[in-house]
Amino acid sequence: MGEIFLKMEKVTKIFPGVKALDEINLEVETGEIHVLLGENGAGKSTLIKILTGLYQPDGGSIYIKGDAVKSNSPQQALAAGIVPIYQELNLIQELDVTENIFMGREIKKIERFGILDREKMENRTKEILTELNQNISPTALIQDLGVGKQQMVEIGKALSVDVNLLILDEPTSALGKDEVKELFRTMRHLKEKGVTIIFISHKLDEVKEIGDRVTVLRDGKYISTKNIADVSEDDLVREMVGRDIKNQFPKVKIEKGAEALRVKNLSRAGVVNNVSLRAYRGKVLGIAGLVGSGRTELVRTIIGADRKDSGEIYIHGQKVEINHPKDALKYGMVLLTEDRKNQGLFLDQTVEFNCTSANLNKYKQNVLLDLTRQKEDTVGLIRSLQIKTPSTQTKVKQLSGGNQQKVVIGKWLNTEADIFIFDEPTRGIDVGAKVEVYNVINELTNRGVAVIMVSSELPEILGISDHILVISEGKVTAEFEAEEATQEKIMSAATINGGINNAV
Ligand SMILES: Nc1ncnc2c1ncn2[C@@H]1O[C@H](COP(=O)(O)OP(=O)(O)OP(=O)(O)O)[C@@H](O)[C@H]1O
Ligand SMILES: [Mg+2]
Repeated sequence: MGEIFLKMEKVTKIFPGVKALDEINLEVETGEIHVLLGENGAGKSTLIKILTGLYQPDGGSIYIKGDAVKSNSPQQALAAGIVPIYQELNLIQELDVTENIFMGREIKKIERFGILDREKMENRTKEILTELNQNISPTALIQDLGVGKQQMVEIGKALSVDVNLLILDEPTSALGKDEVKELFRTMRHLKEKGVTIIFISHKLDEVKEIGDRVTVLRDGKYISTKNIADVSEDDLVREMVGRDIKNQFPKVKIEKGAEALRVKNLSRAGVVNNVSLRAYRGKVLGIAGLVGSGRTELVRTIIGADRKDSGEIYIHGQKVEINHPKDALKYGMVLLTEDRKNQGLFLDQTVEFNCTSANLNKYKQNVLLDLTRQKEDTVGLIRSLQIKTPSTQTKVKQLSGGNQQKVVIGKWLNTEADIFIFDEPTRGIDVGAKVEVYNVINELTNRGVAVIMVSSELPEILGISDHILVISEGKVTAEFEAEEATQEKIMSAATINGGINNAV
């Protein structure tokens, strides 16, 4: 066994109503890639935040290279070369890439005067991004970059300091295939240089590919530490959830119903190129494509979040004008976005508020709200989606990332909508909870709802869709019945340049 870089011993953390960590042990060797695995709410992010001094533990000890860490703070952790990339992106949208990378550590021209050496910082930024093989301009504003590119900037920011222990909390959930490849290449490179890495991901294939050892947490408790070479993906699932998951894609086939949505020749300059599609009651239309291919832009244009330049939309056979998501909701069509922090949730509000906010009309009694009914419905959603929360009154920002995602789903389930568009519905969701999301989709189609599902996970596209569209560069490049589709067929259509017109 190599030198132990980090040892956490019997670490405990209690939040009001939850014991997030119950005497957790973690031992990480110098220069290894150590995976932390566990279901949503298992305590992974909390353990990291204690290690980086963001939270103070209620018990236990931390040792770095054998020395006990007495009082920990983010500054101290950084000084010890412990650099975290948190699950939530922490970039400032209005600033550019260079400003974000050097935030708080600006390079000065002359130290005594506060004059910044912009040129030096830009050059260094360029170097770091080139090392990551990212063609991102140092002067681009963060808000103009997609989520995947933003994540690469976060990673660049972490690499801009001297790092001994790099912590990556679900860095890949927003990344495309090529970006993941670059990240893994960088991780291996850092490892060769002796950097220790803690890696958190719900994607077991990635865990198998990149990890050396894995520690599993379940419900705030330490379960095991193993060599990754010695365990299968099924073993990992069993350790995480405490049981076998027999069917990862429990698809229920429903009779095809009437056409619910028809999109005809929809275009938006530069992102959506003459797309036509149809969605039917009882069916799931899967939309596959690479990250950045225009899938999110397509669904945003359909529901009126972005302006279309041309094209027509028919709902239940009627031509409609949709200029705003509110119009879409009026016609019973909702979009569950991939970006829960900015679009899907009121983080400072309670679980109940979020679960009922999309449908307040339902609860109106004269001028008052029917509070009992709001609470009952929320309890029902917590139960059916297995949302891990101490109460209906807990603020959403206190839930783990995956449980926040479930609240977004709950919010829209609790409407009368009959056309559901999901954009990456299982991003950041653990294996067990994924199955719950698929069961929700089954229940929706069973109710006669039409579902559209944008997803980057090919097994999910193949396992859950009835009909599949592939988008590349804003165009539909292929269409398949689920039975005739394969990963290879989808990937080759997803990388066609230009594309073809699909006839509807
Ligand atoms: N600031 C907080 N206040 C109250 N409770 C919290 C807070 N942060 C986390 N929790 C609770 O602690 C538990 C562990 O959460 P944590 O975020 O560590 O989970 P996780 O393993 O990172 O999950 P995920 O995979 O969903 O990101 C959860 O029950 C969560 O609701
Ligand atoms: Mg987390």
